[in-house]
Order: sequence, then C-alpha cells, then structure tokens
Amino acid sequence: MFWFDVLFFQARSWAEAMKPPKMLWLIMLLIVCVVVQYNIISTWLVGGSNSGTGYGFSYAEPGVATAVREELLNAAVNRLRLDDSVSVNIGQKVLHELIMQLGRELLAVGAFGEVSVQTAAYTSLSQVPLTSHATPRLYIITPTYRRPEQIPELTRMAQTLMHVQNLHWLVIEDAENKTQLVSDLLQRTSISHDHLVAPMPQLFKKRKGPKPRGVSNRNRGLEWLRDNATDGVFYFADDDNTYDIRLFEEIRTTKQVSMWPVGLCTKFGLSSPVVVNGTFVGFYDGWVAGRKFPVDMAGFAVNVQFLLKRPKAKMPYKPGFEEDGFLKSLSPFDPEEIELKAKNCTQVLVWHTQTKKNEASAALDLGKYNNTNLVILKQLIV
Ligand SMILES: *[C@@H]1O[C@H](CO)[C@@H](O)[C@H](O)[C@H]1NC(C)=O
Ligand SMILES: *[C@@H]1O[C@H](CO)[C@@H](O)[C@H](O)[C@H]1NC(C)=O
Ligand SMILES: *[C@@H]1O[C@H](CO)[C@@H](O)[C@H](O)[C@H]1NC(C)=O
Ligand SMILES: *[C@@H]1O[C@H](CO)[C@@H](O)[C@H](O)[C@H]1NC(C)=O
Ligand SMILES: *[C@@H]1O[C@H](CO)[C@@H](O)[C@H](O)[C@H]1NC(C)=O
Repeated sequence: MFWFDVLFFQARSWAEAMKPPKMLWLIMLLIVCVVVQYNIISTWLVGGSNSGTGYGFSYAEPGVATAVREELLNAAVNRLRLDDSVSVNIGQKVLHELIMQLGRELLAVGAFGEVSVQTAAYTSLSQVPLTSHATPRLYIITPTYRRPEQIPELTRMAQTLMHVQNLHWLVIEDAENKTQLVSDLLQRTSISHDHLVAPMPQLFKKRKGPKPRGVSNRNRGLEWLRDNATDGVFYFADDDNTYDIRLFEEIRTTKQVSMWPVGLCTKFGLSSPVVVNGTFVGFYDGWVAGRKFPVDMAGFAVNVQFLLKRPKAKMPYKPGFEEDGFLKSLSPFDPEEIELKAKNCTQVLVWHTQTKKNEASAALDLGKYNNTNLVILKQLIV
C-alpha cells in the first residue's frame, strides 16, 4: 500500500506548488478514483479472508489513511469545480461517476471502517471495477402518473437506481404531456433514461370500476424496446415498490423469464414461486383467480431477445390480469421454464409497499401567504 500513498502526496504537492494545467486535474482525479477503488477492493479481500467470527471484521487499514484519501479526493473535486475552463460537461460526468463510486464504497465500508455481515451482502456490487460495466444492460420500465406521491416515490426509486450499473430507465407517464418536475428529477439523477408519455385510452378512463392502470405505459415501454433494444433484460418496476439493489444483479442474468419472491405487506404477505429442492412446483399468491401465472408485477424479468422473438407479446387492458396476460402472450413459454432467482426464491429483494393513496393538498391561501416561499413550494407538490 506504500506506493500509492507516495503517489498521493506527490500529487498533492504538485497541486499546491505547480498549479498544473486544468486537464491534468481531470486526469489526476481519475487516477485517484482508480487507486481508491483498487485499494478498497484489495483490503476488502484481505479482510474477507480473515473473517470468521460471524459478526463482521475490521477494515484492514487504519482509518487515518482513509481520511487522507478522502481529503485528497475532496481537494481534487473542489479544484475541478472551481476550474471554469474544464468543460462543464466532462466535469459533471466525472463528478457523477465519482459520486456513484464513492456511494458504493460507503455501502461496503461503513463510516467507522467496520464491515458488518449485513452490508457484506452488497460487496459484489462494490467489487465491480470503475471502468467495467456490468452486462447485460438492464431496462427498467416504470409507469407513473401525477399524484401527491409521484415525486417522493420517483425520488426514492431514482436514488435506488443510481446504485445500479449499466441501466436504462424508461419512465412513462400516463399523461398527455410530460410533467416538468419529473423531467427535472430525471435530469438531476444523471441516470440514463427516456421520459415518455402514454395516456390511458379514453375508452378505459370512462369505464366504471377498477382501471387498467399502467398498461398503456408498459406497452409503450415494450414498443420502445422493440425499436431501440437488441439485447439485455427488462423489468416492470413500479414507482411505489421498495427495491433492494441486490435484485438488479440477480435480474441481469435472465436468459428467458426469471421470477423471485415479492414481499406484499398484506395479510397474505408474499407472492412467490413455490420451490422444492431447487425445482419450481407452483405459485403462492393471495389471489389466484384462475390465472396461469398468479404473480406480482414486481416478481419477474424478461430477456429482451426473448421478447423480440415474440412480436405479438403485450399487456392486456384487463385489471388484475395484466401480469398473467402479458406472460401468456410470451407463448411458447410455460411456468416450468421460469428461472428461479434470489437463491432459489428464499430471499425477499423487492416489496410491493403500496403507499397509501392520498388526496391532493388544499389550495394555498394566497391572501395570507402571497409573496412567501410557500407559493414556490406549492408548485412542487400536488
Ligand atoms: C399538452 O400540451 C399541449 C401543447 O403544449 C397543450 O395544447 C395541451 O393543453 C397540454 N395538455 C394538458 C392536459 O396540459
Ligand atoms: C427509439 O429511440 C429513439 C431515440 O431516442 C426515439 O426517437 C424513438 O422514438 C424510440 N422509439 C420508440 C418506439 O419509442
Ligand atoms: C434434490 O435434487 C437432486 C438433484 O437435482 C437429487 O439428487 C436429490 O435426491 C433431490 N433431493 C430430494 C430430497 O428430493
Ligand atoms: C438451488 O437448489 C439446488 C438444489 O438444492 C442447488 O443445487 C442449487 O445450488 C441452488 N441454487 C442456489 C442459487 O442456491
Ligand atoms: C399578492 O400581493 C400583491 C402585492 O403584494 C397584490 O398585488 C396581489 O393582488 C396579491 N395577490 C393575491 C391573489 O392576493
């Protein structure tokens, strides 16, 4: 570990004495990123082989070195920020990548240099080198619509997806026009994305009873995939679920159609394939209703090439039967062929949390709060 400390101090003294050209700063920052990444991985591996207590183990290096590296990184980042002549775009890209990497590092290495067994589950993510991109690519199709919970849900989901590599997010609103607040949110996250709209056909809007919500959006997502994707894996991920970031690495290896348990927060509690000795034997779901695939929307992913070979596959406008209808439209495909994820379906990596539906907030009393910050704030909420 000695050589890179030398490198760091060398870099630091350059910085203070020579004020090198701007581009050099960018390059140095990249080197620092790579070195920090390398160091954390290597010490992780060292620590990992020594563990055995079952209660976690210490980060192999004293916290001091970590602090020095952090300080240096901060200095480099600040320098880059102040430096006008570095192309703003490049600067932002590097910053984004850096923040993503550091975020992932902090997940694996706790703030006090302790790695607990709980966080150890996430190390496979932090061990992906900075320059490599996990493949195949993931396409996340998220239907959404304007409501009080929309921005909070999408904020939470975006900040989950920011931890996932090589992902393209299709955010599709059931609306005539895109919502500016949603566009702004997507821009802020720097997640690779397309923001689309797909209003529910009038025919279904007028109908009484349960509405086929999200169907036009998801079919629009499929249309986008057919036009723009050649490989990878897609997943219908609603904005009101809770995702464990480990799920996305499970999904990535889907060859045809994969499934896994979904936590439901209802009396039934779960929707899951039933597995005996590593083999699929049936489905567990609170509402079977004669469905061939009684599964939750959050409980399956499909390979893009598998979809492309089935040009007619799409989701029906049939409330309650959207999943079943879509999976049936993937024919030829039978339940026995599903790939079981989440350790033979023994882990819950996604929760159908279903936020309570709320009324829109009351109008602001402009007589009382005219010319206050509340006027601005009110535009940010529904
Ligand atoms: C959508 O945008 C168009 C064009 O700007 C506008 O004419 C229309 O009123 C908008 N629709 C809604 C529901 O806001
Ligand atoms: C495919 O992507 C292009 C470029 O982003 C876009 O213009 C086009 O509308 C997409 N196709 C579909 C069917 O959405
Ligand atoms: C489980 O499956 C394996 C092979 O997949 C088989 O050898 C074993 O006997 C099975 N165990 C039980 C309890 O059925
Ligand atoms: C699933 O179960 C089978 C049979 O018990 C076993 O061979 C296989 O390794 C398990 N897979 C995982 C990912 O745990
Ligand atoms: C808000 O205050 C301005 C002056 O401060 C006034 O001209 C305007 O009429 C007020 N608007 C409302 C809706 O009360």
